[in-house]
Amino acid sequence: MLYRTMLDADLDLILPCFDQPSVDTTTRDRFLAYQRKGSYRPAWTWLAVTGDELSGLAVWWGFPTGDRPLALDFLWAAPSITDPIPMWAGLIGQVPPPAGYHIFTIPSNRDDPAIALRLAAAAAAGLTTLNERFRYEWTPSTPLPPRSTRLSFRPAPDEAFVDAFEQISFGSLDIATREGTARQGARAQAEEDVDDYRRMPGPRDQWRLAYDNAGTLIGCALPSANDGGPVVGYLGVLPSHRGHGYAADLLAEITWMLAESGATSIRADTDSTNTPMVTTFDGAGYRRFALRLVASHPATT
Ligand SMILES: CC(C)(COP(=O)(O)OP(=O)(O)OC[C@H]1O[C@@H](n2cnc3c(N)ncnc32)[C@H](O)[C@@H]1OP(=O)(O)O)[C@@H](O)C(=O)NCCC(=O)NCCS
Repeated sequence: MLYRTMLDADLDLILPCFDQPSVDTTTRDRFLAYQRKGSYRPAWTWLAVTGDELSGLAVWWGFPTGDRPLALDFLWAAPSITDPIPMWAGLIGQVPPPAGYHIFTIPSNRDDPAIALRLAAAAAAGLTTLNERFRYEWTPSTPLPPRSTRLSFRPAPDEAFVDAFEQISFGSLDIATREGTARQGARAQAEEDVDDYRRMPGPRDQWRLAYDNAGTLIGCALPSANDGGPVVGYLGVLPSHRGHGYAADLLAEITWMLAESGATSIRADTDSTNTPMVTTFDGAGYRRFALRLVASHPATT
């Protein structure tokens, strides 16, 4: 068996893979659309081939302006493969860390054997950290949360957001932040995060730093969007100001800004273990509608 990236001539071989039922959510239409805009690419689409036969497929996602794939979206194995784990592990291992495998599901399907098989392959490839993220949605059928009267919100240059992200990363319960700061340090992680948020399709001019009435910096609020529409993006409170409920003020501001821009759905994810954020989403009228499982390399890699 040989692992190689996609050639243009492989398209007819690959497309039927998306027509079979899968716990992965990439469709034929999404594959073609994302290839056109550059978030899927031939160089990020890995095939396992045996002679002329396609044995397996791994489709990775990255930013259209990015230079590396970041998230595995789709795994497929030919029906003739009785145990796909070694082949999938080999496919996943072609992309160097840091990388994650994102599986979108609902809590009642969490223990689906098809998911267990994929997570076993990810673990065999070194993606042994499993992060369960709650997916939330706000829609206009829920009243907007009260807007803050104790914080004011101001735009700022990227450098100021990097400074804020760096401070906020200390003591963060967010698994990706903890992994990133352990791997490359708080400053580099903050720079990478701000760079990633800049690559998202949400308008940059809505990013805000939040100050209390004395003019002290409290935190930041970044409304944003991804390919599916408006998202909360990011919010954080500086460590010395935690425990005063400011997270709710920041989430309310993001929700108001997106709603005033016409959003009819605002989505957000947070780690199930990030208890203050889970409480904040619940309290702001966000509905938990799904689960995202993220398998990634451990922090020490
Ligand atoms: C998550 C976060 C925004 C919460 O902000 P906050 O304004 O302190 O939230 P709350 O005041 O509502 O906190 C609720 C409780 O959680 C505790 N808490 C808040 N952040 C905590 C943290 N990082 N670690 C441990 N406990 C924390 C508070 O002390 C408070 O406890 P209490 O009710 O016993 O006093 C803040 O911790 C943060 O900036 N974390 C890093 C960035 C992050 O995770 N952002 C969310 C990404 S989706």
